[in-house]
Amino acid sequence: MTALSPLPAATVPTPAALSIRLETPDDDAWIEALHEVSFGPGRFARAAFRVRERIAVDPEFSYIAEIKGERAASVRMTPISVGGINGYLLGPLMTDPEFRKQGAGRALVRHVCDLALEREGIAFVLLVGDFAYYSPLGFVRTAPSAITFPGPVDPTRVLVHSPDPHMAETLAGDVLPWV
Ligand SMILES: CC(C)(COP(=O)(O)OP(=O)(O)OC[C@H]1O[C@@H](n2cnc3c(N)ncnc32)[C@H](O)[C@@H]1OP(=O)(O)O)[C@@H](O)C(=O)NCCC(=O)NCCS
Repeated sequence: MTALSPLPAATVPTPAALSIRLETPDDDAWIEALHEVSFGPGRFARAAFRVRERIAVDPEFSYIAEIKGERAASVRMTPISVGGINGYLLGPLMTDPEFRKQGAGRALVRHVCDLALEREGIAFVLLVGDFAYYSPLGFVRTAPSAITFPGPVDPTRVLVHSPDPHMAETLAGDVLPWV
């Protein structure tokens, strides 16, 4: 019997290789460059970007994932309310192309959702994104056109994650700052 050949380079980092930490001002330039790579020139027109122009992101919910000590992915959260209910808007979520498909994006989404929903008075995490990516992370579609952003948005991409099973069908109104 021949000896087993070594495994190919791991595509999924071990938990020890992937770590999550708070963003710092030193990350700003890297995040801006990643934003450009991820969303291109149209990034400033996106509905979620327009929310963030009006409401500041929460630095306590801005995280970086590192793989083997190198910056791999970024996520930010903006405190919002919809219909008088407080929650967070997740985004942008971006992984450096060199580090994609290694679990960094999912790890960041899980991390910030868990933290946000533990916080008193926070009932949901909302985002505009691909259902196929976010549905395994507990996001479901909201009622069509029930939530109004400061800019056009594809209603099928407005997704919510909440411990309240009725949140997706009942959440409605403009995206505004916390009440
Ligand atoms: C989306 C993104 C953040 C995923 O980051 P990542 O660190 O590679 O994600 P993960 O490693 O956790 O998950 C990778 C898996 O999701 C899948 N995936 C990635 N983007 C997807 C999408 N838009 N729709 C469905 N599946 C997607 C990958 O194919 C991969 O599948 P596999 O595990 O079967 O190989 C990254 O591709 C990215 O930065 N894209 C550009 C910016 C963007 O679109 N952000 C999301 C905006 S809402």
